[in-house]
Amino acid sequence: MTPSSPYRLSVAPMLDWTDRHFRYLLRQITRGTRLYTEMVVDQSILLGDRPRLLDFHPEEHPLALQIAGSEPKKLAEAARIGEAWGYDEINLNLGCPSPRVQGGGFGACLMLEPVRVAECMAAMRQAVRIPVTAKHRLGVDEVEDYGYVARFIEKLAGVGIGVFIIHARKAYLKGLSPAQNRTVPPLRYDWVYRLKQDFPQLTIVLNGGVRSLVEAQAHLKRVDGVMLGRAVYEDPFVLEQADRLFFGLAHQPNRLEVAQAMLAYTQIQMERGTPLWAVARHMLNLFKGQPGGRAWRRLLSERAGRRGAGLEVLQEALALVAQPRPEVSWVREAR
Ligand SMILES: Cc1cc2nc3c(=O)[nH]c(=O)nc-3n(C[C@H](O)[C@H](O)[C@H](O)COP(=O)(O)O)c2cc1C
Repeated sequence: MTPSSPYRLSVAPMLDWTDRHFRYLLRQITRGTRLYTEMVVDQSILLGDRPRLLDFHPEEHPLALQIAGSEPKKLAEAARIGEAWGYDEINLNLGCPSPRVQGGGFGACLMLEPVRVAECMAAMRQAVRIPVTAKHRLGVDEVEDYGYVARFIEKLAGVGIGVFIIHARKAYLKGLSPAQNRTVPPLRYDWVYRLKQDFPQLTIVLNGGVRSLVEAQAHLKRVDGVMLGRAVYEDPFVLEQADRLFFGLAHQPNRLEVAQAMLAYTQIQMERGTPLWAVARHMLNLFKGQPGGRAWRRLLSERAGRRGAGLEVLQEALALVAQPRPEVSWVREAR
């Protein structure tokens, strides 16, 4: 709706997936797309190993830090630390239904406590100058009512929150695993479109079930931004045309060049003590659907996690996709 919005295309925060290595890989594919960290609990930021939790590569901008928590003071302090660390945005997780997160009293269950959330977000806003944004669901458990989510947003807008990333389904706090909570409750894109109509001054970002940039473009006629999660992890080159289509950039990524850049990156990481697998695991789907792509995946899966595995594993895998063996593609075609 607002074509210049910096939120028009983003990759979702995903625990265990969108760590710094995967984000660096994504940055080789798209320069404009907004990236989000995995969820980091405020308490960990306050007391934990900050460099391990927060460090990122300068190329990763624009980059948002997603925080979880439920106490205004702690969240404000964590947000302040995130801003000082160089992040471009602080996002509050109000959508995760996992039992562990519920046990901590944060994530999706906070949608049932709009007053507390407003206090938290007001404190975070006061603590930083960068945008503080919310990521939430349409409802929780039996609370599934357009009026409820509209009032929830209104309440947060009242303390100055201007950007809402909405996973377009509700969450069940009991009875469903986190993975089921991403598939079982039905998607209701019409509610997200309606929220944009009812709050035209707010930035509304749609998330959930978007599989391609073509789909994202269609949603963008009705909302300000689209966030993709699983589709990107399953095939990072789903973002191949992102810079051209969404950001007016000429950058055109090429899988082999991306793999080469990752090789150089991995070398530096390994010199710092990072195991090969920590980076290579995010590269398994880099050649998805391409000649040699299965052989690439197989070789990395089998060998990159072994003790003492070195860069030569990546180099060997690269040879398989740079010059795929004809019989491999023949076998695939014949199936
Ligand atoms: C492995 C995995 C981890 C996730 N971790 C987080 C998280 O840390 N914070 C969060 O707000 N959402 C998390 N999510 C939810 C995603 O951000 C997103 O809302 C959801 O996957 C729906 O988008 P999609 O259909 O495009 O994947 C996670 C999803 C997956 C698949």
